[in-house]
Order: sequence, then C-alpha cells, then structure tokens
Amino acid sequence: MKNKIQPIQKERVMRDNDFIVSKTDLKGRITYANKIFIEFSGYSQDQLLNVQHNIIRHPDMPRSVFHLLWTTIQAGREFNGYVKNMSKDGSFYWVFANVTPSYDINNKMIGYYSVRRKPSQQAVSAVEPVYKEMVNAENNAGSKNAIEASTAILMAIIAETGGDYDQFALSL
Ligand SMILES: Cc1cc2nc3c(=O)[nH]c(=O)nc-3n(C[C@H](O)[C@H](O)[C@H](O)COP(=O)(O)O)c2cc1C
Repeated sequence: MKNKIQPIQKERVMRDNDFIVSKTDLKGRITYANKIFIEFSGYSQDQLLNVQHNIIRHPDMPRSVFHLLWTTIQAGREFNGYVKNMSKDGSFYWVFANVTPSYDINNKMIGYYSVRRKPSQQAVSAVEPVYKEMVNAENNAGSKNAIEASTAILMAIIAETGGDYDQFALSL
C-alpha cells in the first residue's frame, strides 16, 4: 500500500560504516530488517515486517529505476543503484543499494536481499538531476507510457558512458 506521508526537506545521512540490510520474499514484502534499517526508516521492526518494501519509497524516485531493479533481480542478476528513500517522518536518505536474489538448497529463488551503504556525494549529485528529469518525463508521459519515457532518458545518459545501468552506477 502507498503511504501518504508528506516528504520534507530534511536529510538523514548514512555514516561511513553503516550497512542498511533487508530481505524480502519474492513479492517484495520485508522479511528481515537490520537495526540501521530500522533507525533510518523511522519504523519499528513490527511496522516493517511483512510489509511491501515501497513503504520507504520516495516520490522523487523514477518508476523506471524500480522497474529495472525488478526485471534485473527476477532474471537472477544483481542490481546496483542509487535510491532516495523516505523515512516515516517524511525526511529522505540516499543509499547505494546492491540487491540480489536468494536461493534455497535446491537452487530455487526464494526471495531477495539488499545491502545499502553510504553513496558518495559526487554520485548523488550526478544522479539527482537525472532522476528529476526522469520523474518529469514520467509525469508528462502519463501512467501508461511512463516507464518507457524515463527509461529512454536513462539509457541515453548511460549510452554516453558506453555500458549498462550497473556499469553506470558503479562508475559514479
Ligand atoms: C530486496 C529489495 C529491496 C528493496 N529496497 C527498496 C528501497 O530501499 N527503497 C524503495 O523505494 N524500494 C525498494 N525496493 C523496491 C520496492 O519493492 C518497490 O518496487 C518500489 O518501492 C516501488 O514501489 P511502487 O512500485 O509501489 O511504486 C526493494 C525491492 C527489493 C526486492
């Protein structure tokens, strides 16, 4: 369910040695959250468990980034990317996320695992205007064409660096 929290211009900054960790089931419901996740999100463990991970979705994030995240992990690959998240009080925090599929002993995919660390200021400064342009494109394109419109913008920027989103993200 989408939350109705109003974003505020207050930033929470990750410390150099922080790791924000969560696990989800195959549908993106949170099955584990570490202490730092609880701290930054502002929610209690009880409020996070079994809830969709979009509980911390920030409206400044382009839909197409999550589309890319999901298609990547569902295909069994790892995703690296910059995400602006929203805490319970509406404040925001930037993370550099690594998301990977988890498997059981029979090699069946059973969920996903994400570890986030503090992004460099340089990377956030590079990504922020791109995401802004992407969100604008999504709003202008309308719901049906939103993903396509903002993916085109992202791909054009990535093409300049010659790689895919992963390479782009890791190069910042
Ligand atoms: C392991 C894992 C971690 C995720 N972490 C985040 C996160 O930190 N922030 C976020 O907004 N979405 C995260 N997502 C993506 C959400 O499931 C969701 O796709 C996204 O918030 C967009 O929500 P919406 O489709 O309702 O707009 C994660 C998904 C998985 C599988």
